[in-house]
Amino acid sequence: MPGTASPTPLRVALLGCGVVGTEVARGLLTGAADLAARVGAPLELVGVAVRDLETERDPAVPRELLTTDAEKLVESADIVVEVMGGIEPARTLLLRAIAGGASVVTANKALLAERWPELFEAADAAGVDLSFEAAVAGAIPIVRPVRESLAGDHVRRVLGIVNGTTNFVLDRMATDGLELEEAVREAQALGYAEADPTADVDGFDAAAKAAILASLAFHTRVSIDDVAREGIRAVTADDVAAAAATGHTVKLLAIAERTAEGVSVRVHPALVPTDHPLAAVRGAFNAVFVEADGAGPLMFYGQGAGGRPTASAVLGDVVSAARHRVLGGKGPQESAYASLPLLPADAATTRYQVRLVVDDRPGVLAQVAGVLAEHGVSIDTVRQSALGAEAAEGADPAGATANLLLTTHRAREASLAATVAAVAGLAPVREITSVLRVEGA
Ligand code: NDP
Ligand code: HSE
Repeated sequence: MPGTASPTPLRVALLGCGVVGTEVARGLLTGAADLAARVGAPLELVGVAVRDLETERDPAVPRELLTTDAEKLVESADIVVEVMGGIEPARTLLLRAIAGGASVVTANKALLAERWPELFEAADAAGVDLSFEAAVAGAIPIVRPVRESLAGDHVRRVLGIVNGTTNFVLDRMATDGLELEEAVREAQALGYAEADPTADVDGFDAAAKAAILASLAFHTRVSIDDVAREGIRAVTADDVAAAAATGHTVKLLAIAERTAEGVSVRVHPALVPTDHPLAAVRGAFNAVFVEADGAGPLMFYGQGAGGRPTASAVLGDVVSAARHRVLGGKGPQESAYASLPLLPADAATTRYQVRLVVDDRPGVLAQVAGVLAEHGVSIDTVRQSALGAEAAEGADPAGATANLLLTTHRAREASLAATVAAVAGLAPVREITSVLRVEGA
């Protein structure tokens, strides 16, 4: 309009120009006109902090924007986007940006899961937005739905496949019978897994995301140290095949659940019935299944990693923070009012499926069942199959063994673990082949 001053551009500082940062920069630069229209003011990318100026980079990122002086960069920004990863210097830079009045956007789940209270208190005190949609399940909108769309409901449980690398690995084990190491090597060759796959395979990445989801869902502070964590390292091709034979798929689940006693947050491999929506999540995809009192079951599905998918979530947060700066208002603050008790790992309730090899003679099944009864654990199903050659006609019956597959009803983790230990100690029990939890049934 003639005579109307154009709105002042909002200065955006980008910390990091790797897998995600490059795509955020590209999106800000190539989508500038659309973003300006959506925000009501132009977004000006004023600098991109990196470690090494000499690294060859995507030409979409102008070299003149690169700097190694991240501290100076954040001082003059309206919005700071942190996609460098790690705890330091990301934490100090974000706190500095917040103290200077900038809104901040981060994809850094490790930092959030460790330093959530400190960052939120700083953002609340400064009256700025702290947004982190990309920190859980990459492109999938899950932070905003849990934090805002379900703010009028009561979330009971969140079950998530929030680590694409481990989902890819388990999927390859299921489809082609690969052992874990082979499937991890394939994930590395395809760029899903790092050279050191520990963060994914041992469940640290999923635990950070579980802590964030639980904090949002239950209005309670949950840090990564509160999450009981077991990765997929012990899962074998045989476990995955046995799961399929009983109508299950093995998934690494992040579970956050509210019980009468408090909140249980855990990450572990679990058998999911093949007709559950999470069982259909293949390859490196992610999905989060939410159960709420009013809404009932909800499923969020999509790409949990990768430059462009993750940048999509980051840019959504940038637009939202920028709109607040133009139009006034602010995104939700931390909501930790409920402050529910955090339950120890052994107080969780779950179901076990136990595979064991036992002597095949009268009374053995009764002995095993007796141990479960003594521990107050109720059996759901039992299947027995005789073992190959030893069961053949003419074989010495004294040496015969059988496979037992026991599935329990829901019981406390502590009781289930004690039961398995006691069963393992029975004389006719030759081997406990595997113990896997069953979820989603
Ligand atoms: P990369 O390792 O690809 O990129 C990190 C970038 O940060 C690099 O440009 C690096 O600089 C820069 N950087 C690191 N440390 C410093 C420092 N001290 N000072 C200045 N710059 C620094 O990471 P990603 O892009 O993969 O991940 C970024 C964040 O996004 C992480 O928190 C990650 O957890 C999260 N995330 C990533 C996803 C993905 O699919 N990759 C998905 C969801 C979240 P230089 O280039 O010079 O080395
Ligand atoms: N390494 C993660 C995954 C991606 O495999 O899902 C970043 O969160």
